[in-house]
Amino acid sequence: MTNKIKYGVIGTGVMGQEHIQNINIIENAEVLAICDTNENSRNQTKSLVKNSTKFYNDLNELISNNIADAYIIATPNFTHLNVLERILKTNKHLLIEKPLCTTTEDCKKFEVMSKNYSKIIWTGMEYRYMPPVQQLIKEVHNNVIGKIKMLSIREHRFPFLHKVDDWNRFAVNTGGTLVEKCCHFFDLMRLVIQSEPTKVYASGNQDVNHLEEKYDGKTPDIIDNAFVIVDFENGVRGMLDLCMFAENSKYQEEIVAVGDIGKIETFVPSSASGKDSSEVRISLRKNNITESNEVKVDKEILAAGHHHGSTYFEHLAFIDAIQKNKKPEVSLKDGLMSVAIGEAAESSIKENRVVFMEEFKL
Ligand SMILES: NC(=O)c1ccc[n+]([C@@H]2O[C@H](COP(=O)([O-])OP(=O)(O)OC[C@H]3O[C@@H](n4cnc5c(N)ncnc54)[C@H](O)[C@@H]3O)[C@@H](O)[C@H]2O)c1
Repeated sequence: MTNKIKYGVIGTGVMGQEHIQNINIIENAEVLAICDTNENSRNQTKSLVKNSTKFYNDLNELISNNIADAYIIATPNFTHLNVLERILKTNKHLLIEKPLCTTTEDCKKFEVMSKNYSKIIWTGMEYRYMPPVQQLIKEVHNNVIGKIKMLSIREHRFPFLHKVDDWNRFAVNTGGTLVEKCCHFFDLMRLVIQSEPTKVYASGNQDVNHLEEKYDGKTPDIIDNAFVIVDFENGVRGMLDLCMFAENSKYQEEIVAVGDIGKIETFVPSSASGKDSSEVRISLRKNNITESNEVKVDKEILAAGHHHGSTYFEHLAFIDAIQKNKKPEVSLKDGLMSVAIGEAAESSIKENRVVFMEEFKL
């Protein structure tokens, strides 16, 4: 019987609470400490944890109490670098919500700061852990479709939700939509394609969402739709089709990988649909071979979050890495690269040009 992993959660808004709900259904894990600067967020969290859980509004106090084996950082994107700089003092395992930081520059600063860190640093890239996405990755890596040539990812969904103090309405706080949200998809591209990006070209705008909103007299400035094309060193092309004013789409994510002998596609329903299964379909060019299977997610796991079960499976992998002394499955470099591609896409739109990844001196 191994000891339970003791977690401390820093930032308990929407995502911090999703982490807690998932840890609560994992047998060998428990949340022992919470830190949030907002009283309302702390209060919302009380019913999710045991009475003995310690609550802090100051990160330094949490750090000096030293009661956790692992910390989750789920504070707003623009606070990550500062929180990380301080939490490194703990020398405990870290799971940092995406995006690692709002800019590639800040990710690089964190890379330098944490160079000699001896514990796990894991970037939270939940989409990798959605069961249908896991199957797609496995089939592509097993060469079921031959040599992959194209990967397209479509996300058509609802607008950004309201966050504490509305920090997510401005690109300066988030890194911009293509960093904030789409780092997930750029991470998936690198993982599925197994190569590094060379250039990025994008077209996008804020055409519909948040245009009537004002915060301290300012209108939000975040993109709500875009097409982004990413070319990879191995010649594979990735494409993202993002639309954030499409709440009643049949599927929230549709991912299609095409190789020289066939194609694999998966369709992930939105959590609002309440559907517990998704389809993974493989079709081969020769002999019209097509097979389709349903990937189901347990209802208790689905109910613990908004990401089709992925946060639960991410924690199982994180805990396994801690207990077996393994390397993180989602590294600091993965976090950094996903931000860099997102930043390149934002620049491509702003500057109306192709952005070469070598510009980032990675
Ligand atoms: N993986 C995903 O799919 C996913 C989904 C949503 C959010 N996120 C990420 O999770 C993070 C949090 O987002 P959210 O949606 O929960 O936002 P949120 O606004 O709902 O919650 C953030 C919380 O952090 C608290 N906070 C702010 N500064 C703090 C500090 N210095 N110390 C302690 N607490 C602090 C706020 O009071 C708030 O309660 C962001 O980085 C976001 O990008 C990831």
